[in-house]
Amino acid sequence: MSKLIVANWKMNGSLNKINNDLRIYLSNSNSNQANVVFAFPAVYIAHARNIIESESAKCKLASQDLSMHSGNGACTGEISGNMLLDCGISYSIIGHSERRMSGDTNEILIQKLNAAFGLGIIPIYCIGESIELRESQQYLSFLHKQLESLAKVADIKGLVIAYEPIWAIGTSLIPTMGQIKEVILYIKNYVSDNFPQISATVLYGGSVNAANVRDILNVPAVDGVLVGGASLKVDEFSAICNEA
Ligand code: PGA
Repeated sequence: MSKLIVANWKMNGSLNKINNDLRIYLSNSNSNQANVVFAFPAVYIAHARNIIESESAKCKLASQDLSMHSGNGACTGEISGNMLLDCGISYSIIGHSERRMSGDTNEILIQKLNAAFGLGIIPIYCIGESIELRESQQYLSFLHKQLESLAKVADIKGLVIAYEPIWAIGTSLIPTMGQIKEVILYIKNYVSDNFPQISATVLYGGSVNAANVRDILNVPAVDGVLVGGASLKVDEFSAICNEA
C-alpha cells in the first residue's frame, strides 16, 4: 500500500504559486496521488479544489487547523469544519506544535478532535517533544500525555497521528531511523492497547526532504510523512511523492 504524504504549506503561498505548483506536481507525478494530501492556507483551499477537480486528480486537501466550534456562529475569525468541508477538505491537521505554541491547549485540541470526528473529517493529530525532553530521556512519557488526550474524545474513529519532534521541525536535524522507529511503534502500541477498534496511520514529520525520505519511508512502521519546507519546492515535493 502507498504511504501517505502530507504537504503542510503553513503560512506560505499565493494563488499564483498554488496554480503553478499544483499543475507542475500533477504533470511530474508518477504516484497514484490518492495518497497525497495538500494542506494549503484555508483561504486557498476552494481554489485548489477547483484545480484538482478540473484536472480529475486524486490528491486530497487538508486544513492546517479548524475551529473547535462547528456550524455557524458569533466566533469572529474562526473557520468551522463545516466551512472547510464545503471547500473540499478530507483531513485537518490538529495540534501542530506551532498551533500549540499559539495557545492550543490539550482541552482545546480535544474539542477540535471532537469537531473533526463529528463532521467526518480525518484528523492528522500532531505530537512531539522538545529537545530538552529528548535529551533528558523524558520524551516517551511526554508523548504518552499528548496521546492521552485521545481518550477524552467522545467518538474516536480512524485517524492519522504525526510524530513531529519539535527540534526536527525546520532545523535540518532528524532523529536516527532507530529513534523514529521506537516512537512510531510506541504510538502504534498505545493505539492498539487503548483503542483496539480503530486503525491509526502514523507519520513522521520534521525536516523531511528528497534526500532522506527513502530511508524514513523504509522504516517499516512508518506509514508516511508530513512535509513542511520541502513541500514548497514543487520538484522536490514531486520527488518525495514518487518515493511513496
Ligand atoms: P519541516 O516542517 O518539514 O519544514 O521541518 C514540518 C512540519 O512542521 O510539519
